[in-house]
Parts: sequence; C-alpha cells; structure tokens
Amino acid sequence: MPTIVIASPKGGAGKSTTAVILGTEFAHAGAPVTMMDCDPNGSLTLWSERGAVPKGMAVLSGIKEGEIIRAIKSHDQDGRIVIVDLEGVASRLVSRAISQADLVVIPMRATTLDATVGVRALELIAEEAEALDRNIPHAVAFTMTRAIQSKAHKGIMSSLKGQGVDIIEPDLMERAAFAALFEFGGGLRDMPAQGSHDAAVANAQQFARAVFDRLTGEDSA
Ligand SMILES: Nc1ncnc2c1ncn2[C@@H]1O[C@H](COP(=O)(O)OP(=O)(O)O)[C@@H](O)[C@H]1O
Ligand SMILES: [Mg+2]
Repeated sequence: MPTIVIASPKGGAGKSTTAVILGTEFAHAGAPVTMMDCDPNGSLTLWSERGAVPKGMAVLSGIKEGEIIRAIKSHDQDGRIVIVDLEGVASRLVSRAISQADLVVIPMRATTLDATVGVRALELIAEEAEALDRNIPHAVAFTMTRAIQSKAHKGIMSSLKGQGVDIIEPDLMERAAFAALFEFGGGLRDMPAQGSHDAAVANAQQFARAVFDRLTGEDSA
C-alpha cells in the first residue's frame, strides 16, 4: 500500500499538520495508517501523546537514516497507508524517504520566502527521481491559506502551475482547529469545536480525498 512522504526544507511550512490531517482523515475513513515520525523534534510523537490516536493507527517514533527504508518496506504491506513526517531540512534521511514514496506532498505557505525555499523540495525530488530512474509523483499543498487570497498567493500558484507542478485542491486553510490538533491530540472530530469547526472538518476531508485520488491514479483535477 502507498507511502506518502511529507517533505519541505522549510520549517513551519505545515508538514506535521498536513501529516496529522491526512493520517486522521484516512483512519476516520477506515484505513489502517502507520505514521512515521522522522523529525528529531518529534512533532508527531508529541501529538500522539496528547490524546488517543485513532483506531488502527500506529505511530513510530525517532526513525533514523539507517532504518527508514526498512521501516517503510515492512509497513507499507497489509493494506496500510504509511505517512512519513520529516524535519524541515535537506538530508540523507529526507532523500531516502523520498526514494520510497508513492507520493510526496510538499506543504507550502504561499509567501514569496516560503515558496522560494519550498521549491528546493521539488529539486530534491527531481534529483532522487534521476538517481533512481523512476518517476516520483509529487504535489504541492498550500497551507495556512487565508479566505482572501493575496496577490503573492495567486502569483506563486500560477508560476508553479506554469511549470507543470501538481497543486492539491483544496488548499489547507488557516484554521484554529488545525492549530489545535497539537494541543488536543487525536483528530478534528475528537476535539472541542474550535472556530469554524465544521468548515475545518470539511476542508480536511476534501484535502485527504484529493490526496487519496492521486494514490489511486484518479485524476481529481
Ligand atoms: N492550516 C493551518 N491552520 C492553522 N495553523 C496551522 C496550519 N498549519 C500549520 N499551522 C501551525 O503552524 C505551525 C507550524 O506548522 P507545522 O505543521 O508544525 O509545520 P512544520 O512541520 O512544517 O514545521 C504550528 O504551530 C501549526 O499548529
Ligand atoms: Mg514538523
């Protein structure tokens, strides 16, 4: 079963949040999920200790460079979805995770600085694809998007689209409920309502569906 790697050399891009949203939404939909925390800062591990993790989900902590490939290979069997969360760096661990991916999701805030650094993730994937001589499917996810898109957002989006980069729709909007995942642990449906909670749940569900469609080869665009 598929391995989704969440990667961007930019810290604070929304990687761990994206990982938790995808993991909890897939689990809610009934899929067995393995979350691999490969970030020494341990965001996913902290999240898993805050509240009950969904039924059928396993969280593996502190996976290092030497074990990542073996860990992915042993877990992406038996119909499990593997989600790998990484530190905001470019490293051998990151490259190895990318080498095993069925899909790399690149979370990115639509600011000029974030997009500039985020684009390096695209270069890393291209290098890995070249080294392995295989296509590594990947897509950008805009995170922390405001209801009213800025000029910069529109510019970055059309520039990426112009380069043929796959962009996941919908974006992950800036939502209090998404920020609260790390406070309460668990999924969006397990926490007390935060802000426009139903809108956050709908956003997460549609986002996870758009990611899932890419894994099954269905074109959601
Ligand atoms: N869509 C969002 N809405 C609101 N807050 C968010 C959203 N995405 C991320 N955040 C917050 O932004 C910060 C950085 O996000 P995080 O997922 O930890 O990024 P990364 O893993 O790339 O470093 C965290 O405090 C997180 O709660
Ligand atoms: Mg993180």
